[in-house]
Parts: sequence; structure tokens; C-alpha cells
Amino acid sequence: MQLTPLQGDFGAAIRGVDLRQPLSAAESDEILAALDRHVVLAFPGQQITDEQQLAVARLIGTPTSYHQGGDPKRLFNYISPQLASVTNLDENGNPRPVKDLRYEGLYNTRLWHSDHSWKQTPDRATLLAAKEIPPVGGNTEFIDMRAAWDAIPARRQRELERLLAFHSREHGRLQIGVKISEEDKRRFPPALQPLVRTNARTGRKALYLGVHSSHAVGMPEQEGRALVKELFAHIAQPQFVYSYRWHVDDLVVWDNAQTTHRSTPFEEDKQRRLLRRVGVLENGPVVDVQAASRLGYEIAA
Ligand code: OGA
Ligand code: MN
Repeated sequence: MQLTPLQGDFGAAIRGVDLRQPLSAAESDEILAALDRHVVLAFPGQQITDEQQLAVARLIGTPTSYHQGGDPKRLFNYISPQLASVTNLDENGNPRPVKDLRYEGLYNTRLWHSDHSWKQTPDRATLLAAKEIPPVGGNTEFIDMRAAWDAIPARRQRELERLLAFHSREHGRLQIGVKISEEDKRRFPPALQPLVRTNARTGRKALYLGVHSSHAVGMPEQEGRALVKELFAHIAQPQFVYSYRWHVDDLVVWDNAQTTHRSTPFEEDKQRRLLRRVGVLENGPVVDVQAASRLGYEIAA
């Protein structure tokens, strides 16, 4: 297996492994260690089936079920309980009109986010396999949330480290101009998340926020909103960003705890973009249940 770093210790391309074959324990350990160390891994030239993509996901953990918490057909483009497509194509394989609201499944990836951060048990990792890629645009961009954290002065870090932030699907959708229904508000309750997360295996800390985070809690709400806004401006600085240019048969895996990502525009009404998607769940809620309960929030395990 050869590993080529993409941008310092952020991102790596891995070649010399065939993901159609079962991996040895040494190979899978090497991949997991690389994911911890580089946060985003690209495997070019992997012509894998959905089943093989799921097998790679299972090396990391339990694939996320698109059935959880609602009507799966409305989350991305449902294929089976653990597989979805991220695409601009309709049921007949044609590009959808840009204003088509069913298209929301694509637009909600346009803003910086961490997958399912509005769930108490969010996604630890996501795997996208490229099937069709437009000639221009349609990149996936990643922020190194560790580097963004490291760039904050130590005194400020100590203040931020204790804070929790409010994440909701409702807030995320509002950012793209979509109001979710009352039923969906009940179905997708908000979650509290730590503002800073530590990878226990590497010890690296990272900011944790995205389009779903509305405000930090434990302070007046206006202050909490201003803080999230300030941190957003900080993380989106170009020195923390890596833009991934896709090629057909790339598999890209990222760690949602230490990166934030978004898709970039392309000629959506003319070109074709299709990626197969598998999420991998965290083992349980990531928020410190006691810290939340001190703030008056009860977290169900
Ligand atoms: C996702 C996602 C980005 C992209 O599938 O979670 O954010 O570039 N995709 O399609
Ligand atoms: Mn995403």
C-alpha cells in the first residue's frame, strides 16, 4: 500500500490496495490508522460494487441506516437501508431542473457541514464512491478542523473547550431556505454536541461545527449565535481547506469528527454527477451526558 499525503497531514491518496478483495488485518489496520492521521482518504481507481463499498464501511463501524428517524426516501436518494446516492439525476437518469425541490438532497451539501451532526449519535465517517463526475466543478471540499483548532490561541482554546453547541436539522435546512414541517421537527429532534472533539487514538483536537449548528449554549443565545458565526469565519479560511477533484472510480472516506465538508457547484441542469454513499455511525452519543445535564439538557443514550 502506498500513501501519498495530499496537503501536509490533511488528506492522503492510497494506492496499491484492491478494495474488491477482502483485506488482511494488517491492511485494514493501516487504513484505519491512516484515516485517524489524515482524516480524508482517497482511493483512486477502485471499481467497486455497492456490497464492496459496504464491506469497507464495516471496517470502520456500523453503517448508518437511512431508515432511522423518518422516511428514508426523503434523505438523499434512497437505494437500500444502508446505501444512498448523491446525485443531480432523477429516477430516469436525467439531470433535474435546478429549482426542483426534491433536489434539496443535493443542495444541503453545498454548505459546510459534518454529516448528521444534528443527531445525538452522528456519523463517524462517510464513504463516497464516484460513478459519474461532471467535467468541471462538483468537487468536495474539506476543512481541516484540527488545523483550525490549532490556530486558536491557547487561552481562547481553554474557553471554547468546555462549550456545547446546539445542532438541528431545522437550522441546517433554513440555511438553504427550506422550512421543515412540524412533523419533521418532532421526528428529527435537535442535539447538543461538544464544540471541540478529541480523537482518542491520536489525541488531536478539532472544532466541531457546521451548517446545523445554530448557537453555543450556556450563555445568552445572542452571544452563542455570534460565537458560532465567528468560528465559521475562522474555519472557512483558505489555508484550512482542501478541494478534492473527483475522478470516476474514486472512493473517498472522511472522518466527520475532524473535518467539515461541502460540495461545489457544477452545471447541474446539464451535466451528470452520481456518487454512491454509505455513512458509518459513532458508537453512541458523543456529547458528555453530565456536561449536558448540568446545562439542563437530558441526553438519552
Ligand atoms: C455527503 C456530502 C458532498 C458531495 O454525501 O454527505 O456532503 O460532494 N457530499 O457530494
Ligand atoms: Mn455531507
